[in-house]
Amino acid sequence: MAALFPLVLTRPVASQSTQSVRMTVSDDGHVFRMDGADVSYVFGVNNQQQLQTIYWGRRLAPEDHFPAPQSGRGYASFDLPINVTQHEFVGWGGGLYLEPDVKITFPDGNRDLVLQFVSSKLESDALRVVMKDISREVYVTLHYAMDRETGIVRRWTDIENRTGAPFTIEQAAAGTFNLPRSADYHLHFLSGRWAGEWNVRDEAIRGGKIVLESRRGSTGSQNNPFFAIDRDVSTNQEQGEVYFGALAWSGSWQISVEQDAFQQVHVTGGLNAFDFGYRLKSGETFETPAFYGGFSDHGLGGASRLMHRLEIDSIVPGAPHPRLRPVLYNSWEATEFNVDEAGQMALAEKAASIGAERFVMDDGWFGKRNNDSAGLGDWYVNPQKFPHGLKPLIDKVHSLGMQFGLWVEPEMVNPDSDLYRAHPDWVLNFPGRPRTEGRNQLVLNLARPDVRAYVLGFLEKLLDENQIDFLKWDYNRNWSEPGWPAVPPEDEKSVYYDYVRNFYGILAELRAKHPQLEIESCSGGGSRVDLGVLRYADQVWPSDNTNPVDRLLIQNGFTYAYSPGLMMAWVTDSGNVPGQAAYSLSFRFLSSMQGALGVGADLNKYTPAEMAEAKRLIADYKAIRETVQRGALYRILSPENDRERSATEYVSRDGKQVVVFAMLITGMEHYAYPTLKLHGLDEDAMYKLTAFEGNAERGTPAVASGAYWMHRGLDPALYGNFQGAGFTLEKVEAQ
Ligand code: DGJ
Repeated sequence: MAALFPLVLTRPVASQSTQSVRMTVSDDGHVFRMDGADVSYVFGVNNQQQLQTIYWGRRLAPEDHFPAPQSGRGYASFDLPINVTQHEFVGWGGGLYLEPDVKITFPDGNRDLVLQFVSSKLESDALRVVMKDISREVYVTLHYAMDRETGIVRRWTDIENRTGAPFTIEQAAAGTFNLPRSADYHLHFLSGRWAGEWNVRDEAIRGGKIVLESRRGSTGSQNNPFFAIDRDVSTNQEQGEVYFGALAWSGSWQISVEQDAFQQVHVTGGLNAFDFGYRLKSGETFETPAFYGGFSDHGLGGASRLMHRLEIDSIVPGAPHPRLRPVLYNSWEATEFNVDEAGQMALAEKAASIGAERFVMDDGWFGKRNNDSAGLGDWYVNPQKFPHGLKPLIDKVHSLGMQFGLWVEPEMVNPDSDLYRAHPDWVLNFPGRPRTEGRNQLVLNLARPDVRAYVLGFLEKLLDENQIDFLKWDYNRNWSEPGWPAVPPEDEKSVYYDYVRNFYGILAELRAKHPQLEIESCSGGGSRVDLGVLRYADQVWPSDNTNPVDRLLIQNGFTYAYSPGLMMAWVTDSGNVPGQAAYSLSFRFLSSMQGALGVGADLNKYTPAEMAEAKRLIADYKAIRETVQRGALYRILSPENDRERSATEYVSRDGKQVVVFAMLITGMEHYAYPTLKLHGLDEDAMYKLTAFEGNAERGTPAVASGAYWMHRGLDPALYGNFQGAGFTLEKVEAQ
């Protein structure tokens, strides 16, 4: 048995944490182990020189050693050993039937790729493992890093061509995560559509493959690139083992969850193979997106909290100390395209008076953009609407003490625009074929160097000439006819990759040149939310659906994978239709205060009493925002499956403040509201309860122990329809 020589690595990052990641390689160089937070991840080189998973789960003792693994045993001639092995990364070849991590076609027609271990290297806080084809000069380098706070493993892979001739990569994953053998796994995933994003779905994993994917050119909302897998029915929000993960890619992607013939589950994540091809020249290296995988034995809630921690502490701009989200005002739902200097100034004054900290002008300020049929692509200030340019409005917004934000949709063009008339060849298209429009627009081919230069150029000019603090970056349709006729046919399918690289490249350049600039990723709602864009986006727009009841469900699903501190949630007038349901301002605010609060209502229609109420609730939000945006989230009552209640709890990082939202959608049959047993408190400490909105039931103590709130619980006094309450519990410092 191989001995392990520990190399303890501590990252010098300014954080309160004292955690470190321990990475070890066995003395024969064939077993690799990572330990971080509560997780251990172990893999090794098997007797076929393949890389094979050994263990992934709860952290083990440093003394626990593992022998190098043995490849799976074949079963009859129909199940070769290669298909019974838990590969970390495997090429399509050598009889593989499982989902491959990489598939290559060589110029001579050979498509057989058999990768074997070559070498490994521990460097800084990452591990690199090199594999090579048995005969061809194809090198594959697997990269592993483990997040010290969460134990989440980040994997990505480089594919290098040293064959002397180009070859075509037809499938490329970051790698495969393998689960311990069990036949009772369930997959939880996020699914939806425009204005109905973030539904939590649950499916038993049985023999065969479940594919979560986007073939749309961007992340999409039909599936989000996130998975969570639990083991048995006893798993719930706070209990049970969960394997989870997410892909950092904003283009077409694929996560396949495959149960092989021997009931082993493999989760492979990377680029979508559909219509994909990347011709890699000799001497070039292709880098896959990163695939993150984590483990929690605190149920789906525990998995979510680890994802949130990862995003806030190591992914988003400014991590591990990103700025808290300011309270934002956006006039889109109030004005739509009818923006002008006087109207926006008037709204800005009202927004500032209720406590907004950022004013965002949405669509309609540029070109001949009076509706969605014209002007997109012409990024000059509309002279009729803003005769003096943007400066007077921006100065006004700044003088009111708010930041100024602007809406852009850089990757799109209306055919009725000067840009399209000058460059009809700049859009994705197949020559001689119709160009399908969505919202009267076409997709610019950002893979083209000239389109990249144009987009970066106009954004640079906009930012250089105006004091813009924030961009809302929108993207309002999926791809169709994804042709790139300017390149040789054998290179056209690389558009899926090159487009996204250029998208990230532009964001990176803008952020480097404008360090104070903040960016929101919006795609007609939540169609571009993933760990890839979050490296450049400070916040995201989860849905165009701002109905406060629908939002409870949408926000619930969103937080399975993404932090409430990234989730913009506007209070609007949506749903308040005369004769239909009417939601009180209090209910609407309480729904939106569960994320990063914004206001998107028509403030011109607010009465003085409503303005005062909005001002009070915004002030309340500012007092709890750090806890909501950075704290540990517990979904106490989930509104999934048409349930008519929702309750969330947030515990601040220092444990001193707890925030609880309790929402009642319908009080049918007068059932009492369930007692909310809180989580994450210190049993022995005392906590003072305050209802900042609504009430607790009579007899609720003003001060009680953590044990009381966790085991006896809190009873909100909620009756009727569309009612909500908000509470804080502040830790009482010992005298
Ligand atoms: C879609 C976005 O999601 C909305 O918030 C708004 O910005 C519109 N686009 C503007 O066209």
